[in-house]
Amino acid sequence: MTGETIISFRKVSRAFGEKVVLDAMDLDVLAGEVLVILGGSGSGKSISLRMMNGLDHPDEGTVVVNGTDITLLSEDELVPTRRKVGMLFQGGALFDSMSVFENIAFPLWEHTPMTDAEVQERAVEVLGFVDLGEDVLPLLPASLSGGMKKRVSLARTISLKPDVLLYDEPTTGLDPVTSMTINRLIKDLNERLSTTSVVVTHDLTSALFVADRIAFLKEGRFVFVGTREEAVASAVPELRAFFEAGGKAK
Ligand SMILES: Nc1ncnc2c1ncn2[C@@H]1O[C@H](COP(=O)(O)OP(=O)(O)O)[C@@H](O)[C@H]1O
Ligand SMILES: [Mg+2]
Repeated sequence: MTGETIISFRKVSRAFGEKVVLDAMDLDVLAGEVLVILGGSGSGKSISLRMMNGLDHPDEGTVVVNGTDITLLSEDELVPTRRKVGMLFQGGALFDSMSVFENIAFPLWEHTPMTDAEVQERAVEVLGFVDLGEDVLPLLPASLSGGMKKRVSLARTISLKPDVLLYDEPTTGLDPVTSMTINRLIKDLNERLSTTSVVVTHDLTSALFVADRIAFLKEGRFVFVGTREEAVASAVPELRAFFEAGGKAK
């Protein structure tokens, strides 16, 4: 961990109609860390994550990523940020009609001048990072298990060598054993790729396994941000309730 701020939110507010989701929220993500965002259903975790690569925008306040204020950038201006901040979507979002190879190759074809041979080489390399062999390259997503789909999505996300990896509920819908393999990958990849990772989850086991720091979102703000150890020992009532309920925050 280098400890410098790589993403910062300042006084970020976001509402949908009358419903205030984020209310002058502040947060710093530190370079090299795995930061876990916890909070109840509908508390604004996904919105916060999506703001980190400009998929959602604040109504007020600023979001700075890697020294660039992305708050008011257009879709075109966001392209370099999106390359540097990769998102693993809830559900994986693979293209069903494309093979594993085409799914991984797609962003490389779109965003880089790589040759076919280089794309092939990178696809095999990133599959290796997620513990899959090149035998899966010709397969269609429908023939993969849930855990394998997650890993292929992750391979696609890391293919562009991002500085930051965003994970939205990466273990939701997976059995406990598969969840743990994904947790290990998240932690392991953050070190091996020297990235920064932000993980939204409501899975307590996952949070405690992967987190360097934990941030707890409640009523529009982070009411706790601290190390995993500080989180476990915290007297913040909402966080206590979360741990005591086994991760089912209200
Ligand atoms: N596009 C949208 N239109 C209207 N309301 C939305 C939209 N996206 C999110 N919301 C609302 O914002 C709140 C926070 O959403 P989200 O960040 O997805 O919550 P979560 O913490 O469960 O990930 C929810 O109450 C949701 O209904
Ligand atoms: Mg969500």
